[in-house]
Amino acid sequence: MIVDALVWLVTITNASMPTTFALFERSYTYWNGLLLLAFLALALLWARRRSVLDLWLMVVMCGLLIELCLIFLVGRRYVVGWYASRVFFLISSTLVLAILLSETAFLYARLARSVMAESREREARLMTMDVLSASIAHEMNQPLASIVTNVDAAARWMGRPAPDLGEVRASLAQIRNSAYRARDLIGSIRAMVKRDGRNRTPLDLNELVREVLALTERELQRSRISVELRLHEQLQPVKAHRIQLQQVLINLITNAIEAMRETKQPRVLMVRSALQEPNRVLISVADSGPGIDPGIVDRIFNPLFTTKSNGMGMGLAICRSIIEGHEGRLWASPGAQGGAAFEFALPADVA
Ligand SMILES: Nc1ncnc2c1ncn2[C@@H]1O[C@H](COP(=O)(O)OP(=O)(O)OP(=O)(O)O)[C@@H](O)[C@H]1O
Ligand SMILES: [Mg+2]
Repeated sequence: MIVDALVWLVTITNASMPTTFALFERSYTYWNGLLLLAFLALALLWARRRSVLDLWLMVVMCGLLIELCLIFLVGRRYVVGWYASRVFFLISSTLVLAILLSETAFLYARLARSVMAESREREARLMTMDVLSASIAHEMNQPLASIVTNVDAAARWMGRPAPDLGEVRASLAQIRNSAYRARDLIGSIRAMVKRDGRNRTPLDLNELVREVLALTERELQRSRISVELRLHEQLQPVKAHRIQLQQVLINLITNAIEAMRETKQPRVLMVRSALQEPNRVLISVADSGPGIDPGIVDRIFNPLFTTKSNGMGMGLAICRSIIEGHEGRLWASPGAQGGAAFEFALPADVA
């Protein structure tokens, strides 16, 4: 508008400038045609306006229309101001277009980013649900299997001509413990998936090892596995979630039992605890099974990786997630007895 006003001013006052648009002076048809075209373009743009670019084109068309009218009514002379206004119009409209386009690109980029973030969040939620359900299915197996074994044992003791009530009572106590364990496991799995640091208490890992060996005693006996314990007596405590570390040890011991199932040589489970510098506590679970195939060693910790027909491939993934959630490290190495050794190190609770 300012430019148009200036054009009008310069055109009307500058009588010495050569007249132009001689062609138009002769005939109104050109002017009418030109005006009609401009109006048509404006109407079309208005009808199909969809983007910022359309709005910008409409502004340009309006400017052009006003100028055409001014030149027709007032001037019809080429003056410096006319050229200046053309250049100014070109620069300013390009600038406006550039700003509008960059603004639109910025908005689209923001929209794309937020859509992507939302889909990532959704995927993460689904992943969490997958991991959660797979973990529950995996971890519930142990207490449920223990309950079934103890129910069978109690039934056998009861079915004898002279029922051994002491053994029945022991089996019932085991069943109760397993049921409590199943209940605690749900909370522990939820804490693991949410990386919830609450419920961590100073733990004596030697005591935990003994506890887990007691929990898996029947299974070890049934598989004719002897246990060799080498516990460091002055072990520092670690600050950890008790049930979660129990799960780690149970999963490692279950894997060792399963690995030694086909072994002909003596089946030995060696559990060792040690102090590692600086301020780290190490636990090692080693077996005398066939060891880990070197071809799969870097995949065994992946969720759902298994070489067993009835395995879920979740055991080691859960163990690693728990240990890393406690700022520790879990790794596999060839065992001293020829089998596999799984070791984890956790920071000692020095405070
Ligand atoms: N002590 C071991 N000796 C040899 N191979 C092992 C041992 N522990 C684990 N593996 C290998 O690592 C793989 C993954 O173990 P992981 O515990 O994650 O799953 P899984 O035991 O197959 O199934 P599940 O989910 O029921 O535990 C196993 O299938 C096995 O091939
Ligand atoms: Mg396993």
